[in-house]
Amino acid sequence: MKTFALRVLLVLGVLLVGPATAFAQVLPSFSTWENDKHSILSVGFVNGAQFSGVFINHAAGFQCQNIPYPVTGSVLPNGAITFVVDFTACSTVTTWRGRVMGSRIATKWFLVYRDSHGGIHRMRGADLFTRR
Ligand code: BTN
Repeated sequence: MKTFALRVLLVLGVLLVGPATAFAQVLPSFSTWENDKHSILSVGFVNGAQFSGVFINHAAGFQCQNIPYPVTGSVLPNGAITFVVDFTACSTVTTWRGRVMGSRIATKWFLVYRDSHGGIHRMRGADLFTRR
């Protein structure tokens, strides 16, 4: 009986912890990434498919420089990643979509900016992140 209970616990453990570790392998918790424009993505705890962190913009030609902004995102076991930053002081929200490939994250981003007259502006681009 004791052995049976232990086996049940083991199976439950594998079922519960297995998926969490699979996600964590793709995007490591507490990892730091720098993009080709020298902006920094600091990934916090990766909880299943969800993660949070901090993004600091250093890209030339953009505003809201050197300010840590919260990031929220999701990552799948196949490496597909999406994350979003609300640059509140700049009325800009940027969404990145891409793929984690080892020590690189290749992304395309989409930025929406609301000007002081309420006009909406959109920009697109690509960022390549490398693990630091
Ligand atoms: C703004 O200037 O309105 C806010 C800052 C936006 C920074 C963008 S987000 C996409 C691109 N990649 C970066 O690292 N920075 C710029």
